[in-house]
Amino acid sequence: MGRRSKKIYINQIFEQLEVTNSGGLGQSIARRDNMVVFIDKAVPGDLVDVRIYKEDKKAVWGTITQIHRASPNRVGPFCEHFAICGGCKWQQMDYNTQLKYKHQQIVDAYERTGKIPYKELLPIIASEQTKYYRNKLQYSTTNKAYMEVFDKNNPEHLGKPALGFHIPNKFDKVFDVNHCHLMHPLHNDMRNFLRDKSLELGYPFYDLRQNTGLLREVMFRNTLDGQWMVLVIFANDDRAAIDTLLPLLQQAFPQISCLYYCINEKTNDSYDGIEMIYYSGDKFLTETLGDYKFKIHPKSFFQTNPAQALKLYETTKEFASLQGDENVYDLYSGTGTIGLYISKLCKQVTGIEYVQEAVDDAYENASINKVTNAKFFAGDMVKVLDEDFVAAHGKPDLIITDPPRGGMHPDVVKKILELAPKRIVYVSCNPATQVRDLALMLDKYEVLRVQPVDMFPHTHHVECVTELVLKA
Ligand SMILES: C[S@@+](CC[C@H](N)C(=O)[O-])C[C@H]1O[C@@H](n2cnc3c(N)ncnc32)[C@H](O)[C@@H]1O
Repeated sequence: MGRRSKKIYINQIFEQLEVTNSGGLGQSIARRDNMVVFIDKAVPGDLVDVRIYKEDKKAVWGTITQIHRASPNRVGPFCEHFAICGGCKWQQMDYNTQLKYKHQQIVDAYERTGKIPYKELLPIIASEQTKYYRNKLQYSTTNKAYMEVFDKNNPEHLGKPALGFHIPNKFDKVFDVNHCHLMHPLHNDMRNFLRDKSLELGYPFYDLRQNTGLLREVMFRNTLDGQWMVLVIFANDDRAAIDTLLPLLQQAFPQISCLYYCINEKTNDSYDGIEMIYYSGDKFLTETLGDYKFKIHPKSFFQTNPAQALKLYETTKEFASLQGDENVYDLYSGTGTIGLYISKLCKQVTGIEYVQEAVDDAYENASINKVTNAKFFAGDMVKVLDEDFVAAHGKPDLIITDPPRGGMHPDVVKKILELAPKRIVYVSCNPATQVRDLALMLDKYEVLRVQPVDMFPHTHHVECVTELVLKA
């Protein structure tokens, strides 16, 4: 297709498109002439009509207006909020088909995009639980709910308060959630109780434009053994209201082992500089993964699918092939979970992580697990991982790296190549940036096993653990 400067396809209906693939950004793919058509919520094997809502020089994006023939892998969406929610976008695909396309993403990233030769691509590790698998969810309130069908003559539609999720790409629009399948169903009862009780008491919900209201957000966290943390975020410090609402919540749900609140009077949702105020119960949750326990405070980072995190860490441990005398660097160490998980099997672990609070948590986690051979340092990887650091902590025999979605800074890759550890285990939540980084390492390293892991059923996301060894 030639270069176009004007938008010529917007609102056009493309008829009878055969959906042939599903892509790394969550949409499925069809072709018309030489043009790629990305289609929301389609399943390979569908024959559909599509309305175009976006285009650029090489592709168009559309939503389904009619399904002429449903793919045999199409299943009815299980969630009442599927049409407007940004989560679980693949729930119209049966789980085995989701796994097939996640696996294919890794094949495409390694073979087509990155041209990364590897010894063995292992079958993707499926999630045993495909619903209610998350241990953390956060909801927002609004004094004006987003309605899928809005009737301005219906007084109930005007200024209807809601407690739910933001509409994708619309930061100021929130729809009311009745049941979310991502976290244990008990959290639905707690959220609905908070919404109904607040409305009954006449507490105003948040007005994003005016920065007014009382109930602003709520975060739920839980552990595999059923401990619950609730953090209620208020838009102002109305003592009497807070002291009315929180005891009612605690009484209705004795399962809440840890209740916090905070006051956010800022115009944004970030918790930076906001104090988490302990209200009742324990001060933290304790998650158990294998032989290790990890404390979780309201602000702590923790993998959000803990059952799959255990499989991710087990794979990392296996690929690390530790003999007992190794000096290990755990890069992008978060709260130290991976480093601590393998600490018994090596001589020393040294973690580097940007967020100081995560490093504090890592030390606390080392202490409760009686790990004495692990140290953690806070700072930007590009700056911290330098010659002085290596002189102080010794050259690594193994580097485990688990960067954020953007992957590693090229200077960090360069530094790893200079350090030339015998082994590297690269844990990634984004195959595109992982293969970009691996391509820079191929002169020195051979890629052995590649293990995709599904941490997020019903989304297109896929995690990947990769084993590299220094060439002889
Ligand atoms: C994918 S998480 C890995 C966390 C940890 N390995 C785990 O399994 O829980 C990536 C981590 O990298 C940290 N990070 C992001 N950019 C960084 C940087 N430039 N320097 C150091 N750490 C960074 C983030 O704060 C986050 O904790």
